[in-house]
Amino acid sequence: MKKITAIYPGTFDPITNGHLDIIERACRLFEKVIVTIAVNPHKTPMFPEDERKEMISLTTSHLKNVEVDSYHGLLVRYAEEKRASVIVRGLRAISDFEYEFQMSLTNTKLNPDITTIFLMPNEKFSYLNSSLVRELASYDASIKEFLPDVVYKRLKKKLARR
Ligand code: COA
Repeated sequence: MKKITAIYPGTFDPITNGHLDIIERACRLFEKVIVTIAVNPHKTPMFPEDERKEMISLTTSHLKNVEVDSYHGLLVRYAEEKRASVIVRGLRAISDFEYEFQMSLTNTKLNPDITTIFLMPNEKFSYLNSSLVRELASYDASIKEFLPDVVYKRLKKKLARR
């Protein structure tokens, strides 16, 4: 099997058990997985970049082939810099498809040697996203099962301070 470095980019505001499910799957497939916080200009994150990074590191500390990073700029340029030939994205439902299709084709146009691979999370995470978790938490609804322990505590603390 080839030694492939893969990148798993996202906003991770915050990392959820759904993201972790994808990361664990990717770790079984690739030699190295770089989980990287990417800047989506259309989003205003709740957690600062450093804290999101720290939460990813704490949550993935059991995985020996994970590296955590962040970048600003074009994803394909970052992948080139890291000598990564694969971009991993999670595909949860049909509603993800159009957006992911467009991103994947754009990235292929920018660098045809980089392949986007879609992984499906366990069905119990297929409807989950970070905004939903933040919204539920703000109403004090139960979100424990959606989040790694450390993230759950940080989110609760953050909301208590508001
Ligand atoms: N479990 C739970 N939630 C998941 C998930 C999973 N397995 N997979 C995705 N999500 C959620 C995220 O939490 C996020 O939720 P939110 O919108 O409520 O925050 C949502 O699905 C999708 O976001 P994410 O995966 O974080 O990606 P994004 O759309 O915010 O970011 C980038 C996409 C950053 C990768 C893309 O904008 C990018 O590459 N930017 C860099 C600039 C660039 O190269 N642009 C050209 C790209 S074609």
